[in-house]
Amino acid sequence: MLCLGIESTAHTFGCGIIDSKGKIYANVTDAYKTETGGIHPSEAKLHHENAKDKVVEDALKAANLKLEDIDLISFSQGPGLAPCLLVGMKKATELAKKLKVPIVGVNHCIAHLEIGKLMTKAKDPVLLYPSGANTQVIAYEGGKYRVFGETLDQGVGNFIDSFARYIGLGFPGGPKIEKLALNGKNYIELPYVVKGMDVSFSGILTNLKQKYDSLENQRFSGHQKSKGFFSAKKYKVEDLAFSLQETVFAMLVEVSERAMAHTGKKELVLGGGVACNKRLQQMCRIMCGERNAKFFVPPNEVLVDNGLMISWLGIVQRKQATKDFNGIDIKPYERTDDVIVTWR
Ligand code: ATP
Ligand code: FE2
Repeated sequence: MLCLGIESTAHTFGCGIIDSKGKIYANVTDAYKTETGGIHPSEAKLHHENAKDKVVEDALKAANLKLEDIDLISFSQGPGLAPCLLVGMKKATELAKKLKVPIVGVNHCIAHLEIGKLMTKAKDPVLLYPSGANTQVIAYEGGKYRVFGETLDQGVGNFIDSFARYIGLGFPGGPKIEKLALNGKNYIELPYVVKGMDVSFSGILTNLKQKYDSLENQRFSGHQKSKGFFSAKKYKVEDLAFSLQETVFAMLVEVSERAMAHTGKKELVLGGGVACNKRLQQMCRIMCGERNAKFFVPPNEVLVDNGLMISWLGIVQRKQATKDFNGIDIKPYERTDDVIVTWR
């Protein structure tokens, strides 16, 4: 059985094709990027409108398949930006109707976890899922994927992107901050915000902006400083990037470790765009090593938003697929633990 999956929750329009044995045929994405600002939902929607047909065509071409070979269609139902989700849902429904095959809407966060399991052969892992909009520590317990810890405000990726934007770097900021951090040597103390099992980033963002502003002041305030107008400390932007990573990644690792201790699970899998970060991977590896647990990182192309994970979750949830095309809808606010896991 071949499933074609469509992803469109935020900045990425993606199409993946996989079969029921987990054989990968294609994973094509087209991501909306900006030079300076963040994501504008209506622009991302426009991007998806323009990209959708070609992404699906390219996926079929890469798979060396015809549309008629597809047996099942899946799409990201949520959580995500409603205007973006609607583009994916419409494209998916159009394909399913044309082919007269069933369609299934799936949860984006669970898709990260299931593709991680498929690609790493982890059996029953804790998933650390740090992405743009989401930051969660998830594991299976009692019929659901439970959220053991999560952000109380923004996702860690959006937090990093906001700081990157503030200092004049474009979107996505994560890879740019990672590069800057490599040249940072001095740890600058930042707020460390773990509340129970949850994390929070907005206070750290304010603190970083204030520290960055004092750095800007330094640049223009040579003589004023000597007159005592500014007493700000001098922070190098590389040191700020380095300290940002060390602080927030330590928070994520702490909560993940606590979830592993609580559930007794012995595997950690990463998913989500921020998981591409090599320093985060290294910190997770060290933590797992110290508690004799296994650590897995799927390849980057499935860490970031992609259609392949949606096609695989389509296969996993194929029993829930339907031909009632009019009953299909998006779920922009669906939580990981809203979904009843019937397939394990
Ligand atoms: P989701 O819909 O799952 O919440 P998302 O739509 O934001 O996530 P992802 O592709 O999972 O999409 O993640 C994008 C985020 O990953 C961006 O915030 C980006 O800055 C961040 N990111 C990508 N590469 C890196 C990196 N090397 N280091 C840190 N952050 C990174
Ligand atoms: Fe994602």
